[in-house]
Amino acid sequence: MELKQAAVLAVVIVMLCLALPRAALSQRARLPLAETPALAPAPAPHHVNLTDLLSLAGPYGTFLDYLVRTDVIRALQSQADAAGGQGVTVFAPEDSAFAAVGGAAPPGLAADQLRALMLCHAAPRYLPLASFAALPGPVLPTLAGGERCAVHVTYATGRIRVASGWTRAARLVSSVYATPPFACTRWTGCCCPGSCSRPSPP
Ligand SMILES: *[C@@H]1O[C@H](CO)[C@@H](O)[C@H](O)[C@H]1NC(C)=O
Repeated sequence: MELKQAAVLAVVIVMLCLALPRAALSQRARLPLAETPALAPAPAPHHVNLTDLLSLAGPYGTFLDYLVRTDVIRALQSQADAAGGQGVTVFAPEDSAFAAVGGAAPPGLAADQLRALMLCHAAPRYLPLASFAALPGPVLPTLAGGERCAVHVTYATGRIRVASGWTRAARLVSSVYATPPFACTRWTGCCCPGSCSRPSPP
């Protein structure tokens, strides 16, 4: 995967160089250093395939199955790939988090409810683990939208806890991946009907 990315990056760089007129290049060589950044091309967005990442990164098979089944994987991927977008951050529950509450989809749960629950596992912004210590407020909207689907983040003595109406407070424990525009963090909880007393998700 990295080789492929490196190859794509190399092609992009060559294309950008060819696109710069010769005059601009010679002009640039004579400019003082301080003025050169204005001529630098914007960096190409970093593409990561979320399906590949979650299947290779660790025990996220159950989460990935739900994401694929509900097509939320596509929503996450397009949020990450959106040109000029703010990126995406995924709270990834390990298989054991789903097992502890009997899975995310008990009998009778409608497809759109399961989809809403899966969308609660992502924030529509790039937030590497370190940035959770300095969020402007405790309420963080998720891709599910609406106040009821926001998660509440608390930070104390190096511990980051994330809670919502669909989960008990659970910790964000480590970074799985963090390169803009995509951050993925291991979460000890999950947004599941079994982990709270509410009868059904929004
Ligand atoms: C990600 O990789 C999977 C196979 O591993 C492929 O089916 C899917 O189309 C890829 N998605 C994107 C957006 O590249």
